[in-house]
Amino acid sequence: MRLWSIWLSGFALICLSFYSTQRLPPLIDQITKQTQTQKAVRDLGNPRITIFSAPFPFTGSEVADRQSLAVRSWLGLSPQVQVVLFSKHPSVFSFAEAFGSLVSVEPDIDFTFLGTPFFHSMMARSYSFKSDISVLVHPEAVLFPDFLSTLNYAHELDHDWLLVASLRNVCHFPFHLDEDGKHWRREDGKLIRSRKEIIHSQRLEQNLCDGKKLLAWNNGDLPLHSVVLPPFLYGRGVHDNWIINEALSSAFRFVFDASFAISSFHLNDEEHKSYWDLRGSNDSTSENRSWEYDGNSILGMEYGSLFYKKSNYSDLVKLLKCDGQYTFVDTTESVFHPLGYDTAPSLGKGRILRSWRKSKRSACLDALKPVNRISDCSLMDRIKPSESLEFQFSLESLLPLIADKNKTIVLAVAGYSYKDMLMSWVCRLRRLKITNFIVSTLDDEIYKFSILQGLPAFRDVLAPSDISFNECHFGTKCFQRVTKVKSRMVLKILKLGYNVLLSDVDVYWFKNPLPSLSSFGPAVLPAQSDEYNETGPINIPRRLNSGFYFARSDGQTIAAMEKVVKHAANSGLSEQPSFYDTLCGENGSNRVGDNRCVEPETNLTVHFLDRNHFPNGAYQGLWQRKKVRSACKKKGCFVIHNNWISGRQKKLERQVSSGLWEYEMSTRMCIQSWR
Ligand SMILES: *[C@@H]1O[C@H](CO)[C@@H](O)[C@H](O)[C@H]1NC(C)=O
Ligand SMILES: *[C@@H]1O[C@H](CO)[C@@H](O)[C@H](O)[C@H]1NC(C)=O
Ligand SMILES: *[C@@H]1O[C@H](CO)[C@@H](O)[C@H](O)[C@H]1NC(C)=O
Ligand SMILES: *[C@@H]1O[C@H](CO)[C@@H](O)[C@H](O)[C@H]1NC(C)=O
Ligand SMILES: *[C@@H]1O[C@H](CO)[C@@H](O)[C@H](O)[C@H]1NC(C)=O
Ligand SMILES: *[C@@H]1O[C@H](CO)[C@@H](O)[C@H](O)[C@H]1NC(C)=O
Ligand SMILES: *[C@@H]1O[C@H](CO)[C@@H](O)[C@H](O)[C@H]1NC(C)=O
Repeated sequence: MRLWSIWLSGFALICLSFYSTQRLPPLIDQITKQTQTQKAVRDLGNPRITIFSAPFPFTGSEVADRQSLAVRSWLGLSPQVQVVLFSKHPSVFSFAEAFGSLVSVEPDIDFTFLGTPFFHSMMARSYSFKSDISVLVHPEAVLFPDFLSTLNYAHELDHDWLLVASLRNVCHFPFHLDEDGKHWRREDGKLIRSRKEIIHSQRLEQNLCDGKKLLAWNNGDLPLHSVVLPPFLYGRGVHDNWIINEALSSAFRFVFDASFAISSFHLNDEEHKSYWDLRGSNDSTSENRSWEYDGNSILGMEYGSLFYKKSNYSDLVKLLKCDGQYTFVDTTESVFHPLGYDTAPSLGKGRILRSWRKSKRSACLDALKPVNRISDCSLMDRIKPSESLEFQFSLESLLPLIADKNKTIVLAVAGYSYKDMLMSWVCRLRRLKITNFIVSTLDDEIYKFSILQGLPAFRDVLAPSDISFNECHFGTKCFQRVTKVKSRMVLKILKLGYNVLLSDVDVYWFKNPLPSLSSFGPAVLPAQSDEYNETGPINIPRRLNSGFYFARSDGQTIAAMEKVVKHAANSGLSEQPSFYDTLCGENGSNRVGDNRCVEPETNLTVHFLDRNHFPNGAYQGLWQRKKVRSACKKKGCFVIHNNWISGRQKKLERQVSSGLWEYEMSTRMCIQSWR
């Protein structure tokens, strides 16, 4: 017995020690992690820095030179600097190529149809990079080594931080940067020994309210702000202000203004400031193109108090450098700011600040003076709401901008209740690199929404006003009115000389159907069939789906569409039966073969599209499959229609759960591969 008990307790001990060694690793992990962090702290002189920017295309030589100078000055800061440029423009890709792996181009974010990047999408992308410090800066900002030392200093802080700085405006910059990106020369070729030489040659103005800003943050655990960043357009200062305001009020991070510790600047050039404003425009509409900027004022209304909150940067802690020492200062009281964080004592390695306080009269104080001039800058004053909600883009002005070389556009018609569906559809087309789509909006809400999302949208002013409620689905009165709006709009565009692929927003596109659809030639209208039977003819009565068809701008098609619109106007039904009855004859008297109809008066042929390549929502129960995407791909689908389901909510759920969904509703961004 005793032997047994010894054995047993011995065994138990073995188990216990085994168990505890099993438990150990996390602890060891922690310790090594700690030493790793300590090691990282020791390596602080060398944080990995990623600088993000959204350059203009390198087309104009002046812009190209300034941006090139800027990027070279960034790369000259440290070998640890990586540059990421947000753009889709070929000129940016070829510029980046010259720098090898140090500069990369990121096209997979959201842009407006005019090519302006979305700020919220840029920020989201920047969070996914793994460097120690992220910097977001204007593409023409020239950075000097004092920026790097400021970042190095900030990198030592024990708290997550957000650094903001305004860029000085300079009108004239008579210096060159050497090939190595490190040495500046005067115009006469003489090497510049001290940065002061550069700085003092300029009358420098800076103002955190108006000026272009630089944002930098360490990639710590804490987010910059708590609320979701609205879809701001990049290019105006307001989004920077928004970030600063939200970072301050969320109070996650230590926010400070380093404008006076760094001497970065950008060249002031009024003319080219409006680049994004004018892009793509060459016509009379350009002067009314201001919504790209004023989009922010639309946002102002949409985000209400959130956005109208006053900014008061005089409260912002300033980082100053005096006698080679960095110091945080509350400029409103001209004394050291206690920072208000629990970790404050260790912030900045507990520098002795009282002594600084005593030497208030030091030269540093002089440097403070301009700071006091920066008073509150309220955004309220500079935003003029409502102005930009005018219908800036008419159908006529959009068509030449949007159409492809075949003068073809893809038309979607949407009301507000379908806004998420619309966006998923748009994101899908963007992913397929299809850019010739245009959105006819049925109400003010969806128009505003579409503009904010950078879509080429116009307001169909003739649309009935009460068609955008939730239950506007097949079979309802509302649905009938909406569909009639669609055929009327198609006819209008055909008459303007453009071919139209009308696609409901609940049609998911697997691949671009346009080359296939345009191969049918003139006087043929290819349209989706609503036949769900797997065999038999697909052109039997009322099986023409008016939610996906391709109409050419030719005489026969226009004449036939005119008949459809006229019929629909006098019909109590939706436009779908009007389409069929007009083109294929009541009871299908104009049917030819199994998949066509020929309208005798106009000679227009309706070609019902192969149900395996353009399946409707009831065909083969495809939507019920576990893997809708692969099932459709196997069949060679071009598109699949999410119809034959009742109710907007059910339709939405079916599409989201099937994975044929490309839009993140909470952040208002297209789902990208990096997310
Ligand atoms: C720009 O305008 C000029 C003259 O007004 C015209 O010849 C040219 O085709 C236009 N270019 C584009 C891209 O619209
Ligand atoms: C721009 O808009 C204003 C008012 O919204 C209008 O009076 C003017 O004609 C427009 N200009 C052009 C060129 O479309
Ligand atoms: C901004 O802050 C300063 C100093 O704290 C204060 O005097 C001023 O009234 C503030 N302005 C606003 C609009 O809150
Ligand atoms: C444009 O038209 C040509 C000739 O009809 C056709 O081959 C091509 O596929 C069309 N492109 C698109 C995108 O439809
Ligand atoms: C499907 O087609 C077959 C053959 O044409 C026919 O016998 C059958 O009744 C059809 N089914 C439906 C549901 O229409
Ligand atoms: C279509 O069929 C219905 C019933 O089968 C009939 O009453 C109607 O007259 C037909 N219409 C035409 C134009 O043939
Ligand atoms: C339709 O085609 C027929 C035969 O090809 C022709 O006689 C008739 O004039 C055409 N009608 C129209 C309106 O083009």
